[in-house]
Amino acid sequence: MGIDETKPIVVRSLVKKFGDQVVLDDLNFHVNKGEILVIMGGSGCGKSTLLRLLIGAMRPTSGSIEMLGADLARLDDEGLDDLRKKTGILFQSGALFNSMTVGENIALPLKEHTKLSADVIGIMVKMKLEMVGLRDFEHLKPSEISGGMKKRVGLARAMALDPQIMFYDEPSAGLDPVASAMIDELMMDLNKKTGVTSIVVTHDMGSAFKIAHRMILLFKGRAVAVGTPAEIRSSGDPLVQQFINGLADGPIPLRVSRKDYAEDLLEPFIERF
Ligand SMILES: Nc1ncnc2c1ncn2[C@@H]1O[C@H](COP(=O)(O)OP(=O)(O)OP(=O)(O)O)[C@@H](O)[C@H]1O
Ligand SMILES: [Mg+2]
Repeated sequence: MGIDETKPIVVRSLVKKFGDQVVLDDLNFHVNKGEILVIMGGSGCGKSTLLRLLIGAMRPTSGSIEMLGADLARLDDEGLDDLRKKTGILFQSGALFNSMTVGENIALPLKEHTKLSADVIGIMVKMKLEMVGLRDFEHLKPSEISGGMKKRVGLARAMALDPQIMFYDEPSAGLDPVASAMIDELMMDLNKKTGVTSIVVTHDMGSAFKIAHRMILLFKGRAVAVGTPAEIRSSGDPLVQQFINGLADGPIPLRVSRKDYAEDLLEPFIERF
């Protein structure tokens, strides 16, 4: 199979099992270069697992992930390390080091992965902070800034090495509507200005429809809907409508259990007899 540079990520027949639990079940999708792809799905449907597989932090049970032309499964540690330099991740918590200042946090990947002098790194840190609108906060510690600002610092750090691909795990979780709108604007701005291909996992429907070029809805480990926001909004599938409108009533079950209820209740008796 040849390398398609217009598709920096191609996922084929991806399966991930934990024991006998099938979390991702024959998942197929691709991400186009320079687009913002939003991944949606109910709690526990495997979104974070998918992100972990995509960043190479976990191996699939079967299937393949091609990233920037390389098959993840075939990469050795050096290859994976190389790829990680080309990708940035904004973790849900921001994952900043509390003992370091904001500036030192952003400088970290530059110190680890480049041979740039301290002066040049200093300038780059200021540029990244300016990019997220926090230039005056370089010398503060993460504990001295708000949750929304921590996310922005996390974003500046993730962008430090000018990645080609950015992963965002629930970027607006835990933020007030204003801080969350600011993160949306920043993601769109970065995408527009740098052309970074972006994969965003989110529960926030307002944000999803605002930022996405295309969206994927996961259900029971499969992609049940893929399309532009307009296509998803006008989908005739009741499952899609239930999810995007946040309705309690519909095909998505209220209770999620791998065991039959009666069987679960009667298990101690079944075992005894
Ligand atoms: N390391 C693991 N070992 C065993 N089971 C796991 C592991 N990681 C995830 N799971 C299971 O896989 C399923 C999907 O988990 P995952 O965290 O990917 O869901 P999610 O879609 O990110 O949910 P949420 O929206 O709540 O963050 C869950 O049932 C979870 O218990
Ligand atoms: Mg998750």
